[in-house]
Amino acid sequence: MWQKLRAIEAQTRNRSIAESLFCAPDRASDFSLCVDGILFDYSKTNIDDETRKTLVSLAEKAGVKERRDAMLRGDKINKTEGRAVLHTALRALEGGGEDGAIMVDGEDVIAQARLTYERLKTFARDLRSGDWPGKGRRITDVVNIGIGGSDLGPAMALRALGPYADGPRCHFVSNVDGADLRDTLHGLDPQTTLIIVASKTFTTLETMMNARGALAWLEQGCDAPMDQMVAISSAPDETDRFGIKRENVFGFGDYIGGRYSIWGPVGLAVMVAVGPENAAAFLRGGAAMDAHFATAPLDENMPVLLALVGLWHQKFCGYPTRAVIPYEHRLARLPAYLQQLEMESNGKSVAMDGSPLAHGGGPVVWGEPGTNGQHAFFQLIHQGQDVVPCEFLVGAEGHEPDLRAHHDALVANCLAQSEALLQGRGLEAARNSLISKGYSRHDAERLAPHKVFAGNRPSTTLVYPKLTPYVLGQIIALYEHRVFVEGVILGLNSFDQWGVALGKELADGLIPAVAGGDLPEDINGSTGALLRYIHVCRKA
Ligand code: F6P
Repeated sequence: MWQKLRAIEAQTRNRSIAESLFCAPDRASDFSLCVDGILFDYSKTNIDDETRKTLVSLAEKAGVKERRDAMLRGDKINKTEGRAVLHTALRALEGGGEDGAIMVDGEDVIAQARLTYERLKTFARDLRSGDWPGKGRRITDVVNIGIGGSDLGPAMALRALGPYADGPRCHFVSNVDGADLRDTLHGLDPQTTLIIVASKTFTTLETMMNARGALAWLEQGCDAPMDQMVAISSAPDETDRFGIKRENVFGFGDYIGGRYSIWGPVGLAVMVAVGPENAAAFLRGGAAMDAHFATAPLDENMPVLLALVGLWHQKFCGYPTRAVIPYEHRLARLPAYLQQLEMESNGKSVAMDGSPLAHGGGPVVWGEPGTNGQHAFFQLIHQGQDVVPCEFLVGAEGHEPDLRAHHDALVANCLAQSEALLQGRGLEAARNSLISKGYSRHDAERLAPHKVFAGNRPSTTLVYPKLTPYVLGQIIALYEHRVFVEGVILGLNSFDQWGVALGKELADGLIPAVAGGDLPEDINGSTGALLRYIHVCRKA
């Protein structure tokens, strides 16, 4: 199948996407899919019927359906860690569909998750109404301390759901750089601030340092600091060791990966800010996408198609990166969120059995919201030598009816960018445009090459009605499943992340030397020189 797709690519490489659209008036509907209000348009790519059929066969042969079913029923598909992968179970709690038992190691995951979910809702309601902690002053601010999946998910979602946030103000601290903690706590009152320490392992260096710093801050300014600290973790022994009261700990099973954890207790800050009803709508959106992913045929399955279009561009067309450009300012953290989701999941070199991957790992993902990105990196996207497939996202409606003209301009810019990538502008058109603007023939000749756009550059567009909690749930679940499908086809385990371990270990070993201790004997010349220079600067 890989061979066949390579051959198809060689034949179709120079095909004009614009011409395909022009010659096949139904292409826009044939190469798009609408599911529960979300439209995915991939007609501005050079994928044709044969390519799509062959890509779908690739997914079938790779066992996407079987692996999907295995994941959803709780098999331990995360083989290197011996774990099930059940973030989907968390959204089943509000899905409105079946939420029968899913057994892992003899325990009913759904029943466990439901108990925690009910506690979270009570906690969020009490906090929002001022009934928690019951003795102190009303909580006005919540600080979520976490990193990676324990930060990016809630930070991204809270920004996205700004119009629904009517509870305490939520802030996020992630970086071990003390500036993050200091700047976030600045201006907050320890008596009215709740600290959430979110860490699956409760051993992550950054989070534990920040948690200790926050505790010291509480101790200086309130009577019962531990009453204002809540932990979200899978490691109750560690939360005990830190001194967090058991009634303030919200746990989750090891079958919830960090970068898939927004749906459970890690989403507490979001629930506090937007309320349990909106948080439930987010889960329902995720569950609706799960139901679609679980049942739709592969060639009408949105996550599968997103994955196949991505693989086509990366593995067959040879475009190593993908830009995600939400034309929705409140999705500003989505690219960062997707970077962890995609690159921590699929940025790998070995297959399940440890052998080198036959076709390599997943792509580099990057991006920024439009229209800001247009004034930064779009130059390269339009005229650079490397083709960057763009994934645009845009809502038909905004949340600011009184600023309708802004939203119209936003949508127009989104559509215009994909149009420009598609059409480009040839040398003659560039020359004529200059002449029509009054340039001399000589200047027009000179400037025209700088104004040429190669065009024929692929992009896809995801249109949703409006960024509601439900729609956000759909979008995040869509991307999660897309990453899963990519991983299955590439033959890797999307659910471990050993690649982050080495740097962490080395950092632990270097901290004493940075703090002024002796340099490790085995330190290499370059790192040793950097350290010595840092010491010189510190003494100056
Ligand atoms: O960066 C590695 C990682 O383990 C991520 O997978 C995870 O989201 C993050 O660190 C934080 O981990 P924890 O929630 O255990 O603090």
